[in-house]
Amino acid sequence: MADKILVTGGLGYIGSHCVVALCEAGFEPVIVDNHSNARASVLERLERLTGRSMTCYDLDIRNRAGLETLLQREPCSGLIHLAAFKAVGESVARPLVYYDNNVGGSVSLFDAFEAAGGGAIVFSSSATVYGEVNAEPLHEALPVQPNNPYGQTKAMMEQVLADMVRAPGARSQGLALRYFNPAGAHDSALIGEDPKDQPNNLFPIIVQVAVGQRESLTIFGEDYDTPDGTGVRDYIHVVDLAQAHVKALQALLGGGFEVPFTALNLGTGTPYSVREVVSAFEAELGRSLLQTLGPRRPGDVATLLADPRAAAEQLGWTAERGLEAMVTDAWRWAGAARQWGLWDEDD
Ligand code: UFG
Repeated sequence: MADKILVTGGLGYIGSHCVVALCEAGFEPVIVDNHSNARASVLERLERLTGRSMTCYDLDIRNRAGLETLLQREPCSGLIHLAAFKAVGESVARPLVYYDNNVGGSVSLFDAFEAAGGGAIVFSSSATVYGEVNAEPLHEALPVQPNNPYGQTKAMMEQVLADMVRAPGARSQGLALRYFNPAGAHDSALIGEDPKDQPNNLFPIIVQVAVGQRESLTIFGEDYDTPDGTGVRDYIHVVDLAQAHVKALQALLGGGFEVPFTALNLGTGTPYSVREVVSAFEAELGRSLLQTLGPRRPGDVATLLADPRAAAEQLGWTAERGLEAMVTDAWRWAGAARQWGLWDEDD
């Protein structure tokens, strides 16, 4: 019988792609999502894409008793934990909401999972835990020093997991995956990034300009110490990212780690500037996009680039898709989402 894997936040952008990758690898995903940032229709689209019916619980991870009941009914050998709030600006304005949901929710979830027998835990972390460092590329041995409450919650969740799995008698092993900049969509165009609120990230903002929902793209600073002066990031295709989660799970379930807790970067190691991303979209669209120059965005760094070697060595995983695929797939998904009216009104 296929191993059941609990996926919190399984209806979200990264979660939905993980669910597909899990099915392809022969696992049986059990989704938990409180729908705080996901549409109900994702479930139908996941069923269409995978050709199988999905198990999904409408549950908040802070509901410890609900998780206990769920895990009794659905014994899971692995957990992929993605459910969290993720907006940096909002975390500065409402820190307690972030600590409660992200950190409090993780404590409740990890406790319930360990109490149910434990297993392989893959945790969705972020390059944001490195804060504003002057090292390129970033490797996992660098200090964790986030510079905003959202990043603090990710660092704390890593610590909670690390301490729990290192405790005497612990029954789980943990792996934190530090994502750089996820982008793109599944090439079926059935799932993709679909922010309920105003997006803050470059890819969905460019898409909004391309479809006419936003007049122009504001480039946040052109005076960085980078080749063209605009911010440089390590964009990683969401399907590559999802496959890394499956590899991580397989490595943990196979007992492949000598230590109970490991943190790994997920990036490509290839730098792209804001201007290069915009040019890639313009090439895909065959037209230019209106851009204006704005001031630097507070908290932004010039360059954020992963050293991806540890994930390659320890998981046998490297990203396969480049910027062109991210742009093509993001644009194909945007076309489908608009055709279904997803971006006209909430479903
Ligand atoms: N950018 C613009 N204009 C926009 C939006 C973004 O010029 O309208 C630029 C940014 O200044 C940056 C680049 O595009 O140079 C990428 O910005 P994103 O907002 O897409 O991504 P960030 O690297 O800022 O954010 C990511 C994650 C966050 C995480 C943060 C810090 O999305 O979750 O890295 O590690 F907190």
